[in-house]
Amino acid sequence: MKTEDIRRILIAGGGMMGKNIAFVFTSKPEYMVSVYDMYEVDVREGIRKNTAELVRRGIISAEELEERLGRVSFTTDIDSPLVKEADLVVEAVYEDMDVKRATFAKLEERCRADAIFCTNSSVMSPTAISRDLEHKERFAGTHFWNPGHLIPLVEVVKSDFTSDETAQTVMEVLAAVGKKPVLCKKDVPGFIANRMQHALWREAISIVEHGIADAETVDTAVKYSFGLRLPQLGPIENADMVGMDLTWNIHDYILPYLEDSHEPSPLLAQLRKEGKQGFKTGEGFRKWTPEEAERTSEDLNSYLIDMIYGK
Ligand SMILES: NC(=O)c1ccc[n+]([C@@H]2O[C@H](COP(=O)([O-])OP(=O)(O)OC[C@H]3O[C@@H](n4cnc5c(N)ncnc54)[C@H](O)[C@@H]3O)[C@@H](O)[C@H]2O)c1
Repeated sequence: MKTEDIRRILIAGGGMMGKNIAFVFTSKPEYMVSVYDMYEVDVREGIRKNTAELVRRGIISAEELEERLGRVSFTTDIDSPLVKEADLVVEAVYEDMDVKRATFAKLEERCRADAIFCTNSSVMSPTAISRDLEHKERFAGTHFWNPGHLIPLVEVVKSDFTSDETAQTVMEVLAAVGKKPVLCKKDVPGFIANRMQHALWREAISIVEHGIADAETVDTAVKYSFGLRLPQLGPIENADMVGMDLTWNIHDYILPYLEDSHEPSPLLAQLRKEGKQGFKTGEGFRKWTPEEAERTSEDLNSYLIDMIYGK
């Protein structure tokens, strides 16, 4: 299916990610957006709640929000015309291989023969999820980041079978609704951004574990140094900026000392065993009062809106 033929978007799974993804697709006035879930979900109310800060700051008006919500429908009936007539489906059901495969099997039985199917799985392989489908070439990963209505990046992940045409259409549709799609050309665990993010987390945890710095200091070191540069200068641009000689010399000296464990850190395992679950229990690597935990989440949303919308 070509980009210009796409009008009806179906989101399968109206949970935390599904609602925000539905909202994203309403940014194109031509799109009619439906959400299918096995349980009743008040999708419109959920979107109103998640976007309240955008309205409060005047980034979208209350009228625009209501117009966009007017193009959102909901069904618990998999045999609904909303399902059968969808041009493009984004699945955001539970992160479980069997549940995802069963969902796509039901969708393929009912949807148009040329519909495009996407999965929002954060870690599971699109090749494995689409294994039993007849039209694997019209299937791709679309990894939205949480909160899906704010973070611009969506990783479009090609499975071993995704056609170039499908990948291109999905990239174009996501760009048309204001996202920043990037193409992950190979179906690898962690896709692109999580591979880098978790390489950093592994090193950060290792520094704490080895007593080089405490947890708060590790975060401070990131926030007040290269963390500030990252939105403007990616790591590859940075390597080019300083040059291959310097990059090579630094890597030659430092790489033997960096954490390269292929298992979760023993410190992480210990905290987990002790029930120290971070914000949820008030202690993880650091201690958190309920107020601090809530403020940290609120400050993040507020910061993201400042960064993305400049207000
Ligand atoms: N939460 C995150 O930070 C995040 C980020 C990126 C991607 N993801 C991925 O998005 C997907 C959804 O995550 P979430 O956090 O929104 O989960 P969630 O639990 O909030 O929502 C899942 C929704 O799917 C529905 N559902 C489950 N099985 C279903 C089925 N068989 N048919 C129809 N509906 C069904 C549930 O009723 C629920 O409303 C997962 O694959 C997850 O890995 C999550």
